[in-house]
Amino acid sequence: MTAKIAILAGDGIGPEIITATLDVIECLQQEFGFSAELEHAPIGGAGYDDCGQPLPEQTLSLCQQADAILFGAIGGPQYDSLERDLRPEKGLLRLRSSLSLFSNLRPAILYPQLANASSLKTELVAGLDLMIVRELTGGIYFGEPRGIRTLDNGERQGFNTLVYAEHEIERIARSAFDIARLRNRRLCSVDKANVLEVSELWREVVVQVAADYPDVELSHLYVDNASMQLVRAPKQFDVMVTSNLFGDILSDTAAMLTGSIGMLPSASLDVNAKGMYEPVHGSAPDIAGKNLANPLATILSLAMLLRYSLGEQELAECIEVAVGKVLDQGLRTADIAAGADSIGTTQMGAAVVAAIRATANR
Ligand code: IPM
Ligand code: MG
Repeated sequence: MTAKIAILAGDGIGPEIITATLDVIECLQQEFGFSAELEHAPIGGAGYDDCGQPLPEQTLSLCQQADAILFGAIGGPQYDSLERDLRPEKGLLRLRSSLSLFSNLRPAILYPQLANASSLKTELVAGLDLMIVRELTGGIYFGEPRGIRTLDNGERQGFNTLVYAEHEIERIARSAFDIARLRNRRLCSVDKANVLEVSELWREVVVQVAADYPDVELSHLYVDNASMQLVRAPKQFDVMVTSNLFGDILSDTAAMLTGSIGMLPSASLDVNAKGMYEPVHGSAPDIAGKNLANPLATILSLAMLLRYSLGEQELAECIEVAVGKVLDQGLRTADIAAGADSIGTTQMGAAVVAAIRATANR
C-alpha cells in the first residue's frame, strides 16, 4: 500500500527540519521499499504569504485526504501584528479542530547520551520516559463565548470559556488508558477539581472509564502539584492525561526536563489513529535559515507517524535506533552540544540516513 503523507513545512526552521526528514523518507524508500506519496502544502505564515490564510483551503483538503501529516513549525515575528484570525497559530488550531485530532501524545524521553543536558540533577532524570496525553480540540482553547468586550463603565474585559462535555473527557481518557496499557500501566490524571466544576466532571468521567481498565493504576493530581512533582521527581510518572491548557503548560515543562526540546516528537490523533506529527519545539525564527536547527525531533516524529498511523513498527524502530547511534557517535547540533563542537541540520540529517543505511546493508 502506498501511504499518502501531507508535508506541511511551515515557517522559520520548519523547511530545514522537514528537508532533513524527507531525506530519511527517501532512504526508507530506497533501502526498505517503503512506499509513500508525498504532497506539500503551505501552512501558518507560509499559508498567509501564499494564499492570505494560515490554513488555505487546499491545504486542509490535502490533509483530509492524507493518511498522515508531517508538520514542521509555524510562526514568526513578521506575523505577530496580523489580526488574530490570520496569525499562523490559527492555522494549526484550525487543522487540529477540523481533523478532530483530539489526542495529543507528547513523550518526554531523556536519551542516556544526553543526561547532562538537563537542568535537573542527572539522578533525578536519568532514564526518564514519560508520556503526556493532552486533550487537543476542546477546553478553553475552543470554548465559546470568547472575546474582548466593553463593559458599561467603558472598561474592556477579556473572556474565554472552559468547557468539556462528557464524551470529550471519555475519549481522551480511553486514549490515555490504552497508551498506559502499552507502557507501564500507570496513569495520572491532572485537573483542578478543588476549584473548577469542569475538573470535577473530568475526574468523575475518568474514574468511570477506569472501570474498563482494572489493570491500569489510576491516580489524580491537581495541576499545581503536578507541575511541582514534574520538577521534583519526574520519574514517578508513566502516563499523564490532562486538558488542553494544562497539557500545553505541563508538556513544555516535561520537554525541558530532558534538556533538549529539540529532541522531542509528538503525535495528534483522531479516533481512527489518523494523525498529524510534529516536533514539540517551535519555529525558532532566530536561527531559521542558518543550518543550526536540530532535525531529530522531526525525524522522530516521522518514526511516530510510521508507528501510529501506518503500522510500520519496524521502520519506526529503525529510525529510533539510528538516532541513538548518531548520539553514540557523539554527533550533536548546537542545542544539545552543551558548548562542545556541533554539526548543522543537514549534517545531522545525513548522519541519521547513514546510520539507517548501515543497518539496512548489514
Ligand atoms: C503547542 C503550541 C500551540 C498550543 C500554539 C502554537 C498554538 O504552544 O503546540 O503546544 O498552544 O497548542
Ligand atoms: Mg505549547
